[in-house]
Amino acid sequence: MEATPARTPERDAYYRRIAPLNLAPLWEVLKGLITPAPASGCRPALWRYDEVRERVLEAGDLITAKEAERRVLILENPGLAGQSRITTSLYAGLQLILPGEVAPAHRHSQSALRFVVEGEGAFTAVDGEKTIMREGDFVITPSWTWHDHGNDSDRPMVWLDGLDIPLVQFLDASFAEGFNAEAQPLSKPTGDALARYGSGLLPVDHRQATPTSPVFNYPYARTRAALEQMRKAEAWDPCHGLKLKYVNPENGDFAMATIGAFMQLLPTGFETAAYRATDATVYSVVEGKGSTVIEGETFTWGPRDIFVVPSWRRHHHLTESDAVLFSFSDRPVQMKLGLWREDRGNA
Ligand SMILES: [Fe+2]
Repeated sequence: MEATPARTPERDAYYRRIAPLNLAPLWEVLKGLITPAPASGCRPALWRYDEVRERVLEAGDLITAKEAERRVLILENPGLAGQSRITTSLYAGLQLILPGEVAPAHRHSQSALRFVVEGEGAFTAVDGEKTIMREGDFVITPSWTWHDHGNDSDRPMVWLDGLDIPLVQFLDASFAEGFNAEAQPLSKPTGDALARYGSGLLPVDHRQATPTSPVFNYPYARTRAALEQMRKAEAWDPCHGLKLKYVNPENGDFAMATIGAFMQLLPTGFETAAYRATDATVYSVVEGKGSTVIEGETFTWGPRDIFVVPSWRRHHHLTESDAVLFSFSDRPVQMKLGLWREDRGNA
């Protein structure tokens, strides 16, 4: 592509004349709008859990979950400071619920995932069903479903929230409302959705009602067992080790319409081949230690650390021990729009 045309006094005078008519010259901005490759402000970043945990707990002394509505520290991408986002299209935060607390019921257009980082025994209720959350569980709050959280255990509970807030904001499609009580009434027994939709079976006359999976808690125990069984085949992908995506059992598509979520196992001493894709990806380390090299910059991680690989940045992972990584990105959106691209190098 040619260089941006030079500015001249005549051209500048012309730009000033057309500005009141809400007109602007494309040739002055074209290079920034249509880039030859993704040129995101999103930067590689890592949040070390042992550093962040203290600050999260400190928030517990400052404000109650009820007053805050959601007591969350946003994981802000350093390249997108002040924009409440971890990547260009996605939001992430660490939410704290102390024993006995309740985060009141509400609903909104934005879809949310919860990935449990620390603790066990807090619950999320979605559309009349309560699920107890444990470390490594992947829990979904679909768009416009009532949800509230509470902690009946005796320990603080922290989870990673992932939402499509920036995407919905970009589309100007946000609605939200509070429930008329702190907690929603429960109409289904705990475990109903998983039994009904998440056992490789579906009710015989089931019809898909929304694009989101009817399973709203994918327990870590099941996911981990699947990975452990799969490793026996020794069929490691050079770029991903063993990588699974969370799917909607109704159609095999991603479990959420706007956010793709994944879990992968990398064995001890594994070095993945260089890889890049257009979906900026947020990783949450479940087990193990290792590092990820993103265009020459090394990020060393351990359990509960969170890091982000921006769009189209070449990277690879190295492990010191068996590692299990949860990750999420806007891949479903990009794939449906025909925009998603990956580059597996020579792998
Ligand atoms: Fe919410």
